[in-house]
Amino acid sequence: MAELVTLTINGQPIQAEKGTLLIEAARQSGIEIPSFCYYEGYTLQAACRMCLVEVEKTPKLQVGCTLPVAEGMVVRTESDIVKQARKGTLEMLLTNHPLDCPVCDKGGECELQDMVFRYGAGESRFVERKVHVDEQQWSPVVFFDAPRCILCYRCVRACNEGMGVGALGIGNRGVISAIVPNHHDHLECDECGACIDICPVGALTSGSYRYQTRPWEMEHVGTICTHCSDGCRTTLGVRNDKIIRGNNRDRSGINDEFLCIKGRYAFDFVEHPERLQSPMRKTASGHEPISWAQALEIVAQKFSAVKARGGKFGVIGSTRTTNEENYFLAKFARQGLGTKTIDHRRTGDLAGFFDALSDRANVLATTSDVYTANAVLVVGADLAQQHPLLSFQARANSRHHQSHIYAVTTGPVREDKYATAVVRAAKGGELAGVETLRAKLAAEKDLVIIFGDAVQGDTLRQLVGFGDSLGIPVKYVCLVDDSNSRGAFDMGVIPRDGGLSREQMLAAEDLEALWIIGDNPLGENSLKDTGFASKNAFIVVQDLFLTETAKQADIVLPAASAYEKNGTVTNVCGEIQKLKQAVRVMGTKTDLEIFGLIAKEMGLNLGIWLPEKVFDEIRKTVRGYNVPLPVLATGGAAPTLPLNGRVAALPGAIQSANETLFTSGTLSRYSKILNEVMESPGSLYQRTEDRGQRTG
Ligand code: SF4
Ligand code: SF4
Ligand code: SF4
Ligand code: FES
Repeated sequence: MAELVTLTINGQPIQAEKGTLLIEAARQSGIEIPSFCYYEGYTLQAACRMCLVEVEKTPKLQVGCTLPVAEGMVVRTESDIVKQARKGTLEMLLTNHPLDCPVCDKGGECELQDMVFRYGAGESRFVERKVHVDEQQWSPVVFFDAPRCILCYRCVRACNEGMGVGALGIGNRGVISAIVPNHHDHLECDECGACIDICPVGALTSGSYRYQTRPWEMEHVGTICTHCSDGCRTTLGVRNDKIIRGNNRDRSGINDEFLCIKGRYAFDFVEHPERLQSPMRKTASGHEPISWAQALEIVAQKFSAVKARGGKFGVIGSTRTTNEENYFLAKFARQGLGTKTIDHRRTGDLAGFFDALSDRANVLATTSDVYTANAVLVVGADLAQQHPLLSFQARANSRHHQSHIYAVTTGPVREDKYATAVVRAAKGGELAGVETLRAKLAAEKDLVIIFGDAVQGDTLRQLVGFGDSLGIPVKYVCLVDDSNSRGAFDMGVIPRDGGLSREQMLAAEDLEALWIIGDNPLGENSLKDTGFASKNAFIVVQDLFLTETAKQADIVLPAASAYEKNGTVTNVCGEIQKLKQAVRVMGTKTDLEIFGLIAKEMGLNLGIWLPEKVFDEIRKTVRGYNVPLPVLATGGAAPTLPLNGRVAALPGAIQSANETLFTSGTLSRYSKILNEVMESPGSLYQRTEDRGQRTG
């Protein structure tokens, strides 16, 4: 156990671990030492002087955010001299501040405003003319208003240390010091908005949130980001049934305050004008709207007729729908339609993964393990692009715990910057690359291995064999795409017992009905020209938009997105989290409701289709899912335990879509903000790097 020291703050004796910073020791005992530049998890700056305190036997006031506690220390945080110093600091910070709180986005949740109310002077002595600098737009996401900046450097550290990007710095010296972006007048970066969120004042504001609302006018709904399988928790700010912002400032869930651009801003697809809001029937001239009653009746009649004559069904589930929806769909397919032909777009070899690890316990790494392990090995994946939270976790681990990061990848990745060892491997040569690290890895205390779709089948088994041979505890993460790939797999949206795989379904010529939920196979290049092989199949598509696939459907049913429903999802590490409905889009229904209504119309008894009821059933029947409900109810993540069990090898291709920070399958096409930023593949703007390549 760490050594404790005893000190006194404001006459109250407290104990803290030796080496703890005074500001933290005070907080742990419920005593506030005000601060601006101090921010837990980032390097110390000692820039603002807001945390000055009086320490007995020291001649001057001390900076509480850099001072470690010591035995017998006597501290006063509320003495007259301390109060006077705080007042002086705030007065200094306000000298050139525009005091435009009534029009500032930060009003109501501004730390400077709060501090001035609590510790500041009632009036200003400053009567001189203030220096005005025009507001600058650094990207569609980031705006900067220099006079509001208090130079706390939080944004610089969040970008440099937290994101590993380093796009912000300080320009000029002395009183004209200012935060500057990495490309003269604009940013080229991850566009994650972490700098905006961490800014204690309204100096950095967000392109999507600014001038929209006041914080107290929003409802704050805690749910899970729908864009990738990392499963970041986000609090959506909702006003008048419109999502206005996303952040995780309450640090609930697995991601601390982290969100990438998709989680923080790309909820705007929800209100895209092309959202489907009515069921549609295909006609000779396109699709015509019909009522829900008509649509459900047509689907039920067709499905019943195909079933009655023993015709073949194909069911393609979604990697974005909830566990409850996937479970109900699998049950519908097997019990309701009598088909084994059900699958989803598989992006990681989970069957091989569970098979290879089937007789062990404690080998599935959680998101938190990536932050605490002594070593992390990334194989065949660009984490910063494809799994931004896992990348953030590995970076934070290296910073906070000096853990060792290893990368075996085909090209440069962000991990290169701080990795202990990097191996560039040709595609397919990842395992050989890993082997070259054997001695280094075997010397670690424990290890998390994170691998992408290059590792599947025999290669995956060999990787696990390699892990075993190291003689240290090893845990694994098998990377998959989208928000609920893992859940789709666990809930049985897979072709067991001779059912056809997704690719086999698309190539089969004798399907009589094809039911596709939240997937767009015809958007994939290989099928763009040929379409479905079963030319006469009755096709039903449930989706948010009229995708290439939906355009071929006989019936299109408008579905609700993950931000519009309740239920649970399982992230890439197998952690279950709860979705909470934030908004409703008129005319849509959740996929679960659609399944339930079709079942009812067909006269099937598949049980109640309320998310809570279905989850009860999942807990009883799906291995590893009997998780404690209070953890989920309080916004936590419950790991599926111990393992999901051995799964026989499945037919069908396994391939990640290799989404980037700025793409998210179909959803990203409909997110204005993702398409606007310069880094987006479809952006109209050219990045400096590209311009350089072209001209130079
Ligand atoms: S948006 Fe993110 S990556 Fe860009 S400057 Fe801000 S913190 Fe850095
Ligand atoms: S922009 Fe905000 S976070 Fe950055 S230094 Fe200024 S006040 Fe601090
Ligand atoms: S890392 Fe993934 S889950 Fe987290 S905010 Fe980004 S897209 Fe969403
Ligand atoms: S919080 Fe201590 S100097 Fe800023």
